[in-house]
Amino acid sequence: MTTDVDKFYDVVLKLTKEAGKLVKERVWEQKTVETKSCDIDFVTETDKEVEKLLINGLLKEFPDHKFIGEETTDSGVKPDLTCAPTWIIDPVDGTMNFVHGYPCVCISIGLLIGKVPQIGIIYNPVLEQLFTAKKGQGAFLNGKKIKVSSTTELAKSLITFEFGTSRDPEKMAVMAENVKILTPSVQGIRSVGSAAWNMAMVALGGSDSYFEFGLHAWDMAAGDIIIREAGGVVIDPAGGPFDVMSRRLLCAGTSELAEQLMNVIKQYYPPRDA
Ligand code: IPD
Repeated sequence: MTTDVDKFYDVVLKLTKEAGKLVKERVWEQKTVETKSCDIDFVTETDKEVEKLLINGLLKEFPDHKFIGEETTDSGVKPDLTCAPTWIIDPVDGTMNFVHGYPCVCISIGLLIGKVPQIGIIYNPVLEQLFTAKKGQGAFLNGKKIKVSSTTELAKSLITFEFGTSRDPEKMAVMAENVKILTPSVQGIRSVGSAAWNMAMVALGGSDSYFEFGLHAWDMAAGDIIIREAGGVVIDPAGGPFDVMSRRLLCAGTSELAEQLMNVIKQYYPPRDA
């Protein structure tokens, strides 16, 4: 039986693939780059065009659906998560990578209904990796089922965290402290500049855990459901439930690892998304 969610999924997947062509064609081309919150927070014409393509395409089919999009928010629309079906969209996650031609760039789209995640899509069109999930149906990479890693010990883990584009001295000090704490405590640390891709790597089991402070709902909404459907955990970095509007995230393959990480890292609390 085809459900509404199946229909939403088919429509968004088609649009995502169309949008992916634009990103792939342009990743090594000259771009027009503008700055947003600071001089290293970038937006390109492709970010704007992809967000428009996705929102207009979805609105055409589902006129009563709501949207929280990175570029729409940056143009002054306040992000508002209600119980209505809401698409949370990052048209190019890893914009700095896109600007430099570093191929870790993803289109990230989550659908929440009644504030419950129903669909997640993370698409890296450059590396041709399509991560997908529907609630209760597992997580997939290019159609093949994926699952998180089973690592339970920090000392045996490969973890990811990001510094983001904020140059708030308090946040930079917290992150420097976390580098000091974690470098001798884990097997390896990675930081590739795309929150969505980092979450996809946890879902795939390539990375055991990822945390970041200062993200936005559009960076995390798709990854949240993809990781849970792959068997992983997504929580607040200080413990307790994950809140997509909180700008804080810790995800891991196992709850044991999530708990160990949460207990050693220094915390930072950015202002919420809404
Ligand atoms: C950014 C990337 C980056 C993360 C930042 C995000 P954007 O998203 O995901 O890895 O560290 O916090 O804002 O701006 O490229 O869509």
